[in-house]
Amino acid sequence: MSSRIVVLISGSGTNLQAIIDACDLADYPGKVVGVVSNKCDAYGLTRARNANIATVSLSHKEFSSRECYDQALITKIDQLNPDVIVLAGFMRILTPAFVQHYQGKLLNIHPSLLPKYQGLNTHQRAIDAGDKEHGVSVHFVTEELDGGPVILQAKVPVFESDTSDDLAARVHEQEHRMYPLVVKWFCQKRLNMHLNGKIEQAVLDGSILPISGYANEE
Ligand code: GAR
Repeated sequence: MSSRIVVLISGSGTNLQAIIDACDLADYPGKVVGVVSNKCDAYGLTRARNANIATVSLSHKEFSSRECYDQALITKIDQLNPDVIVLAGFMRILTPAFVQHYQGKLLNIHPSLLPKYQGLNTHQRAIDAGDKEHGVSVHFVTEELDGGPVILQAKVPVFESDTSDDLAARVHEQEHRMYPLVVKWFCQKRLNMHLNGKIEQAVLDGSILPISGYANEE
């Protein structure tokens, strides 16, 4: 049976598009049943409408607190009966209540080689630090911001002439390959988050993934 994917966005939604396109493939084990944005003008909502996917626009500006907003978000998401919630450029810090509600079902993509550069402006920070390589991580979401167990990383080179936009474009290319793949593993029930005491671990095909995710040589 096809898994029900709900994607949360705040912006352009190129990762959303990559997942929508993957879902169109005959053997893909999931379908996007809803797209939720905290910004009513996010272009990703147009992408969803073009693909006949239900959209929800819920502005955080209409709520008095982060807790109230996240509760309203939970209500909207649960109406879509999701098997997995995919954060694809959803630029909000989530409350513990939200993360706990979807524990083990919440995936995020972050444009850095975590644990490096949690938070914002990751491309510029990598350039400013003189890094020779940069990249992207897909991870399970836990209560620690950008701190959940990594599932998959991809590295890209940083060239001396790179601007932040150059680097972002190079990272995006990798994102569009890897996010549909990780979501596919989850939908196939090959991937889950395991609690070892208080430590969360990503498990693929029964094996605990190393700290940098699948097939990382370090
Ligand atoms: C992506 O690069 C993603 O890694 C990043 O936002 C971008 C969204 O692009 N996410 C974060 O920074 C989360 N902390 P998109 O809207 O074109 O998919």
